Amino acid sequence: MDYDGTGIARVYDKARTLAPEALRLWLDLVGRDAAPAPGSLIIDLGCGTGRFSEPLAERFDARVIGIDPSSKMLDQARRKLRGDRVAFETASASALPIADGAADLVFMSMVFHRFDDAAAAARECRRVLRAGGHVALRNSTRETDFPKYHFFPAIEPIVAKELPSRSRIAEHFENAGMRLSVHEIVPQVVADDWQAYAQKTSLRADSFLSRISDADFAAGMAALRAHAAEAPPGEAVTEDVDWFVFVA
Ligand SMILES: C[S@@+](CC[C@H](N)C(=O)[O-])C[C@H]1O[C@@H](n2cnc3c(N)ncnc32)[C@H](O)[C@@H]1O
Repeated sequence: MDYDGTGIARVYDKARTLAPEALRLWLDLVGRDAAPAPGSLIIDLGCGTGRFSEPLAERFDARVIGIDPSSKMLDQARRKLRGDRVAFETASASALPIADGAADLVFMSMVFHRFDDAAAAARECRRVLRAGGHVALRNSTRETDFPKYHFFPAIEPIVAKELPSRSRIAEHFENAGMRLSVHEIVPQVVADDWQAYAQKTSLRADSFLSRISDADFAAGMAALRAHAAEAPPGEAVTEDVDWFVFVA
């Protein structure tokens, strides 16, 4: 999907901000399962607006190259940059502008299902990683039960067609010559309460919600707001995310 053809970049950070605890959770998992040594090169593949790029550089004292084909998403990422350890490049996962064996870690967040050629992307990850380097990947899968399903049933056929199954993700990296070392389902708080979740969802910065009809979106928002009005105050909204680590 071409993010430049949508308005997602403009509202992505507002709609998909990670609370500091959620960001810490993912960085802790990287540290636990794929810790890059200081000075390592991390590729943030499909980095979008760079939600993880600078935090990865800071936490692991690493250089990060964020790669994404969308110039609109990268424009947002560049605006946020504070230090000089992160650089961004416009490219696709199937042809990475990185030398063989140059990277220690390829990190991917919510991007695997966007690849036109997932097999080529997995091969590129293997090519750019040094022996013993890691792929660390967080993504929804076909098996994930998201809160959005319950309010926007129109996304179901898109999700069923586009989200990979857990076994398919593993197969791509194994076929590329990597070994699965971790798979875990990680619950993540996506909003502190249902009102906040409805507010974030209303921004429609989601590749599934952006493609249902306006009428289906309006009906789903009405159902979600009605649920939010009845939900206990302070009930956090969580979503399961699959976490995979592969070793080169
Ligand atoms: C949901 S966003 C995730 C962005 C970021 N990783 C995050 O977690 O905030 C998906 C991103 O995948 C990018 N993308 C789509 N096709 C891609 C490809 N072939 N190679 C690399 N990135 C791609 C999109 O441009 C978009 O920025």
